[in-house]
Amino acid sequence: MKTNKIYNINCVEGMKEMQDNFVDLVVTSPPYDDLRNYNGYDFQYEEVAKELFRVVKEGGIVVWVVGDRTKNGNKTLTSFKHALCFQNVGFNVHDVMIYQKKNTPFMRSNAYTNCFEYMFVFAKGKPKTFNPLKVPTVRQGLEKMPVNKKADGINNKVLGKLNKEKTRINIWEYAVGLGGSTNDRFAFEHTAIFPEKLAHEHILSWSNENDLVFDPMCGSGTVCKMASLNNRNFIGMDISKKYTELSKRRVGLLKQELKFG
Ligand SMILES: C[S@@+](CC[C@H](N)C(=O)[O-])C[C@H]1O[C@@H](n2cnc3c(N)ncnc32)[C@H](O)[C@@H]1O
Repeated sequence: MKTNKIYNINCVEGMKEMQDNFVDLVVTSPPYDDLRNYNGYDFQYEEVAKELFRVVKEGGIVVWVVGDRTKNGNKTLTSFKHALCFQNVGFNVHDVMIYQKKNTPFMRSNAYTNCFEYMFVFAKGKPKTFNPLKVPTVRQGLEKMPVNKKADGINNKVLGKLNKEKTRINIWEYAVGLGGSTNDRFAFEHTAIFPEKLAHEHILSWSNENDLVFDPMCGSGTVCKMASLNNRNFIGMDISKKYTELSKRRVGLLKQELKFG
């Protein structure tokens, strides 16, 4: 299958055109709980999970961004059903990360406002790439260590060197909407896009330059755009012709600089 292209196809069919062990990284968000109406398409996540396990390389990663809806006062737990399904087809659940939204439009009168979705990180075996994103530590330089007890029980405090930075925690927060998710105003013709920065940060974490990044349900093309801007190859698929065209248009905007607020 040709890379650096967007295909208008049901991804279960589209993946049948891919050879085994082809893809380095998948970053995607499926439709869930009829939250958005994608022209009534029936979404078969079990079939998607099975095909993804076949086309992903040994050590490759699938980042699956999904939330839950409340129906008749009851959380659907669709996210966990998906996660268990991926585990059943052979993936390791490498991490359960949180995508926290800074601005949250949905409110319930008898519960706290939901402000997150899950970012499941599924691995085919042991992850082959991890480029951890870092943050500066609060205290740096030399400092007396609080405890340095030997067998005699005496606390001989010594100077220790503190690291300048540490690996980030697994809750990632993003602004959403225009100016948050993206500055591409036309991308909002799609109703459920996720932040470019989210795609960017997973792409940096779990892939290297020239790797192949795949989004089987690419919607407005966020993942394909960010893969291309980060010198990765990409393949996008979407069952909707309208969204396929939108993705193609979006991926055409490659001259932008990578700037996040
Ligand atoms: C949550 S949206 C993805 C949004 C995307 N992450 C973005 O940033 O724009 C899910 C997408 O899956 C597509 N879709 C639903 N079922 C599909 C299938 N079987 N194969 C391919 N695409 C599908 C829908 O048309 C929709 O655009």
